[in-house]
Amino acid sequence: MSDVLTQDTMDGIKVINSINEIKTVSVIGAGTMGNGIVHVFAQNGFKVHMIDIAQAALDKAIGNITKNMDRQLSKGALTEEQKEKALANITTFTDLGEGIQDADLIIEAATESIDLKLRIFKDIDRLAPAHAILATNTSSISITRIGSHTSRPGQVIGMHFMNPVPVMKLVEIINGYATTKEVTKVIHELTAFIGKVPCVVNDYPGFIANRILMPMINEAITSLQEGVAGVEEIDTIMKLGMAHPMGPLQLADFIGLDTCLSIMNVLHMGFGNQKYAPATLLANMVQAGYYGVKSGEGFYKYTAGSKELVISERFADKRWNA
Ligand SMILES: NC(=O)c1ccc[n+]([C@@H]2O[C@H](COP(=O)([O-])OP(=O)(O)OC[C@H]3O[C@@H](n4cnc5c(N)ncnc54)[C@H](O)[C@@H]3O)[C@@H](O)[C@H]2O)c1
Repeated sequence: MSDVLTQDTMDGIKVINSINEIKTVSVIGAGTMGNGIVHVFAQNGFKVHMIDIAQAALDKAIGNITKNMDRQLSKGALTEEQKEKALANITTFTDLGEGIQDADLIIEAATESIDLKLRIFKDIDRLAPAHAILATNTSSISITRIGSHTSRPGQVIGMHFMNPVPVMKLVEIINGYATTKEVTKVIHELTAFIGKVPCVVNDYPGFIANRILMPMINEAITSLQEGVAGVEEIDTIMKLGMAHPMGPLQLADFIGLDTCLSIMNVLHMGFGNQKYAPATLLANMVQAGYYGVKSGEGFYKYTAGSKELVISERFADKRWNA
């Protein structure tokens, strides 16, 4: 018997219980988060399979990873040889089965939608090797619920990376109700191995990061809606007064207002508490297609190629809603 594959599940399947056994990591979704996760694993010597339904997303992701590695190169954080090695570790796939057939760890980072993630996990469960650990980068969807759609809920875990992944140190690790201790231990060690700081939490709506962050953002939006202060004042007070690197309204634009709304809805429904009800202004902006950076306008207006922070005309009059 192998000395590393020693964890027996109830079905007698050997599940990986040492990071030395993780050679191939498959990442599903090549968007903002997916390409960052691929970057970090490839740079740390893993074979990485990057999977997306859209070939264009895969091409764009390879372009982004190359650009971000070039930036590390110019700062002396990476050598040309390390960059070439890391890029050679990445293979792209549009077919899920091909991309995960020899994976030891799968990290799902597709669009934040419950239906989509449940469907993807059913497919992964069917197509991935029995020993593989199945992780999700979801911001808010229940790990227990995702795990319950597989035949191996003990091997399902949350690995919540932060944006931008190559820069941000934290990985919030979320135990589903059924996640085994051994799986948590492997993911904890792996997170440290790739140079990140793991923090383990349990599966409650919003986990810790978004349970605390999102109500603050929502309160900032409610304050704006009530005319307590303007965009500039709210963001300046939180930046200079609380030493936050970015004000909550700018951060909401960066995360995406659609994502913020969907996380508030998860908190509101999950706890059944009115204190998590999304701000009406947030719901209206999302309904109207004002998503923040990704759509070009939210609380601020974004122009391609410009880094200047310009408040959206809708909020330029500070007494707009007073
Ligand atoms: N953006 C953030 O700041 C952030 C931070 C932490 C966690 N997350 C979470 O990470 C996940 C991804 O978010 P994102 O911001 O990278 O989204 P994104 O919209 O940038 O990328 C999602 C990608 O998933 C792909 N996709 C959709 N369906 C797919 C499928 N069936 N198979 C394979 N690929 C598929 C899309 O083509 C797209 O390229 C979400 O769960 C989100 O909540 C996001």
